[in-house]
Amino acid sequence: MKTVVVGQGYVGLPVAMRAVEVGHEVVGIDLDGNRIGLLKAGSSYVDDISDETLAIALGSGRYLATMDYADVEGFDVAVITVPTPLRDSLPDLSFIEQSASSLAPFVRRGATVVLESTTYPGTTDELLVPILEAGSGLTAGSDFFVGYSPERIDPGNKTWGFRETPKVVSGLNSASLTRVQGFYDQLVDKTVPVSGTKEAELTKLLENTFRHVNIALVNELAIFAHQLGVDVWESIEAASSKPFGYMKFTPGPGVGGHCLPVDPSYLSWQVRQKLGKSFRFVELANDVNDHMPDYVVQRVMALLNADRKALNGSKVLLVGLSYKANTGDIRESPSLRIIELLKDFDVDVQAIDAHIEGHRWPVGVVKHETLADGLQGADAVVVVTAHDDLDLTALEHLTIPVLDTKHAIRGDSVVTL
Ligand SMILES: NC(=O)c1ccc[n+]([C@@H]2O[C@H](COP(=O)([O-])OP(=O)(O)OC[C@H]3O[C@@H](n4cnc5c(N)ncnc54)[C@H](O)[C@@H]3O)[C@@H](O)[C@H]2O)c1
Repeated sequence: MKTVVVGQGYVGLPVAMRAVEVGHEVVGIDLDGNRIGLLKAGSSYVDDISDETLAIALGSGRYLATMDYADVEGFDVAVITVPTPLRDSLPDLSFIEQSASSLAPFVRRGATVVLESTTYPGTTDELLVPILEAGSGLTAGSDFFVGYSPERIDPGNKTWGFRETPKVVSGLNSASLTRVQGFYDQLVDKTVPVSGTKEAELTKLLENTFRHVNIALVNELAIFAHQLGVDVWESIEAASSKPFGYMKFTPGPGVGGHCLPVDPSYLSWQVRQKLGKSFRFVELANDVNDHMPDYVVQRVMALLNADRKALNGSKVLLVGLSYKANTGDIRESPSLRIIELLKDFDVDVQAIDAHIEGHRWPVGVVKHETLADGLQGADAVVVVTAHDDLDLTALEHLTIPVLDTKHAIRGDSVVTL
């Protein structure tokens, strides 16, 4: 079976590796020459895929990393995992359009195309299908098959990987659903069919909006609890002892990555566009979460003030820059906004994070390899992300203030969000 995975990023590479593992002949296509070069050289840039896994795939002779669409010729199933960012706060589906146009001439009778990129309901049927039909001269649903299956990958999660996480599957019609479900049944332990592609598209947005809104709730609560002199972390821990009707979310410096800052806005955009209404929950959550970096900087300023020091001209060490622990993904990370705000105050921003890819390190931020180096001459420390492999005990008894936004350490000089 020949499987094509379009986009070899955080989503596409794990799909490709799993397809190789179950015996498919896999073409991983990406237009990023740097990424394809790394893959060919056996070097993985996706935390959840080890170099060893990649080496096994390359060694099997059934994995080809390529930039050339001619290599997809004769495919049975193609999975599209290209980015769906916001451009000027609006959904940007141009990557789906481009990849579908490139794929379309190679769609043949009996082939199946599945979209995995996160997007608003209707994209598969109304955008993807017409491009594939026009470029192939075939009819979707009878000559070839189309579906949508949202990705649920949770970078850094050691328990729930690609294989163990149930996968929602859908098709343009029942013939398509049969093909799509049959394909994923080979890759994952459990598939969850839904009746239409729109329901599957909405499922993904619901999951991420749920998370976004609940994080906003605890973030706003953290701000008020601090002002009221109540330990919000203790209350959250206590509430989590309830075995039903409560799900634990914790405050933080803001949301980041490819999903939470983006996906809920796809939904609110569509609601506004099609219904002329505002999705108030999403807009409120965006507002609260977007302002968390400002709050972090205000707290650092207050801590320095208490020591009769100014933020302006100070040296602040940021510990962890990625948006999530144990990953190197810095896309949309709140650390980027914190850096920007600190720099507005002429702060000498320094940081430590061994997970961030070298070329993604933020400009103008001094990089340290060890905490001891980073702490030299520092006026304050902010724990933005607490990676498991960085021992933070050295921060527990410093004479300078430490703002721990993740509640990862305890100590005399440590304050939490
Ligand atoms: N990263 C996550 O945790 C996550 C989780 C669930 C869903 N998603 C969704 O999955 C999609 C992909 O996200 P990602 O994190 O893998 O992005 P990514 O940027 O890591 O990877 C996407 C890749 O697609 C490539 N690409 C762009 N246009 C192309 C084209 N025309 N042909 C071939 N390759 C092309 C890019 O070069 C890039 O390498 C997005 O819609 C995202 O919202 C991401």
